[in-house]
Amino acid sequence: MSTVTNDSPLSAASGAPSGAASPNGAAELAPSHEGEPNAHGYRKFSVGELHFERDEFFAHISWPTGEHLMSVDAFLRALQRDVAWNFFYGIVNFDGVFGTMNHYGTVDVFTGRYNDAYRKAELDHVETVETEAVRSVFVEMLDDWTNEGFDPFASPSETGSAFGDKHGSNTAAVTRSRVAATRMVSLPGDEQIRDDAGGHPVNRQFTDVAQDEPEVRPEPGYEGRIGGFNLAAYLSRSPVTWNPSIVSVCRDSLMCPTTEEYILPIIHGNDRAEWFVLLSDEITWDIEDRDSGAKRARVTMKAGDVSAMPADIRHQGYAPKRSMLLVWENASAELPNLIATGQVPAQPVDF
Ligand code: PHB
Ligand code: FE
Repeated sequence: MSTVTNDSPLSAASGAPSGAASPNGAAELAPSHEGEPNAHGYRKFSVGELHFERDEFFAHISWPTGEHLMSVDAFLRALQRDVAWNFFYGIVNFDGVFGTMNHYGTVDVFTGRYNDAYRKAELDHVETVETEAVRSVFVEMLDDWTNEGFDPFASPSETGSAFGDKHGSNTAAVTRSRVAATRMVSLPGDEQIRDDAGGHPVNRQFTDVAQDEPEVRPEPGYEGRIGGFNLAAYLSRSPVTWNPSIVSVCRDSLMCPTTEEYILPIIHGNDRAEWFVLLSDEITWDIEDRDSGAKRARVTMKAGDVSAMPADIRHQGYAPKRSMLLVWENASAELPNLIATGQVPAQPVDF
């Protein structure tokens, strides 16, 4: 088992310090918020010429050639993932119009960029900004726009409402730290297993999951180097949905299981292939062309099914019942360029 430094976007935040001079022509730190709260109690935010405002029900986004709106609960669920995952791999589409593309140091914040109609009408807009500058705006917007009782990571069945004029906040929820093992959950000095005493009760949908743990008896000399834990029990105690945790690391190979219920809040346009192993229940995936949004496939996975998502698509998942999904990521920093230049195929397997 290796002890790599994990620089995946799914682990700790990385990037240039706030306000640093740009090595690659990206915009300097944008003003993070403007003026007094609006009539609904919410602050306005900007990233360059992209302006963000919320009211009781909607997030409004405007730019020189257009404007857009999203239901604010969907917007906050997507924003929560973008912030917590440090802009993730490739593209995080909040919907078919607005999103971010990660260049690992800078981020494109766009409207209509991956939407054929907006592109053809030349109404799309992109701001390329230092990662930490976008991050600080998004962190503040998420905190200011999230009301008391709403948890953007929770299943809709397990959280209060996002709507209404501003009332309170939920900073503890929107800043919760990610699980990112450096070797493997349960090993000494690493992420530990979950239990009631640690504040991780079994979820209402997983009461039938066995909670026994394996007995590990290392030979002398191997203490601390061999381990094992009950992954199903670990997942049954996850309080959040659509939030892959890094539970084991072997060089660039990251095991990122997660529990799902309702809809993946982003449409993920990957810059590398990604494998899914469905460990329980059922998830349907809508798959579109990554750049145009044209429909490509609909895949329904049942427990035990394995699928490989190619690097030239975007996908969104629908889980009618809480399920356990293993997402397998290759975190190599070389992959986006190898795929973009055709040295590695976009699809990881041929049948
Ligand atoms: C994905 O984009 O592949 C993804 C993200 C979050 C999940 C599952 C899959 O919970
Ligand atoms: Fe994905």
